[in-house]
Amino acid sequence: MVGLVKTPVLRLFSLNSPQPLMRKVYRGKDIEVSFDLDQCVHIGECLRGEPKVFQLRRRPWVLPDAGEADTVADVILRCPSGALQFRRLDGGPDEEHDGTTVTPVLNGPLLVVGRIEVQREDRTIEVLPRATLCRCGYSNHKPFCDNEHLKIGFKAPGWNSRSAKRTTPAGQTRESTRSRGRGTWSRSSASTSRRA
Ligand code: SF4
Ligand code: FES
Repeated sequence: MVGLVKTPVLRLFSLNSPQPLMRKVYRGKDIEVSFDLDQCVHIGECLRGEPKVFQLRRRPWVLPDAGEADTVADVILRCPSGALQFRRLDGGPDEEHDGTTVTPVLNGPLLVVGRIEVQREDRTIEVLPRATLCRCGYSNHKPFCDNEHLKIGFKAPGWNSRSAKRTTPAGQTRESTRSRGRGTWSRSSASTSRRA
């Protein structure tokens, strides 16, 4: 992954979220999963990654014990927005990052991984390990992406279809962010409803 910026910590101010975010906790035997719908960018990595654990039409939609803790943790690490987080209860490794990196998604948000401190209007601070930040300027949930870039057909400065087709040896497009080759960003139609 090629980061634009590497820094120990990224500090953000969120004027659109005066209240601390509402994070729901799903406790299993070996791992505890938490989820904040306000952070979710609905691209469905969780649903594809471990369908036994993350099932949209089931209540609760997260069942941590339905999968191996290592697999659940691995899937959550691929959640770009930080909506999903985990805490190991079995002594397994918790999420850790060496510094903080910022990487652009092709014609989409900036993906930040590391330590992100978000200060709300009421001066409370939430620390996120991952976040997707708006770079189209049209999000209604700034500084976070809320997928408005898809509606407006955002094209990043300097983007052109020829450069987008140039691939790395790993098969990723130049601006891609994810080890699984998600060079483009598409909202999952299966992941847009409210969850509990
Ligand atoms: S951002 Fe994607 S991976 Fe994360 S919770 Fe939402 S749908 Fe799942
Ligand atoms: S980049 Fe996604 S809403 Fe702006």
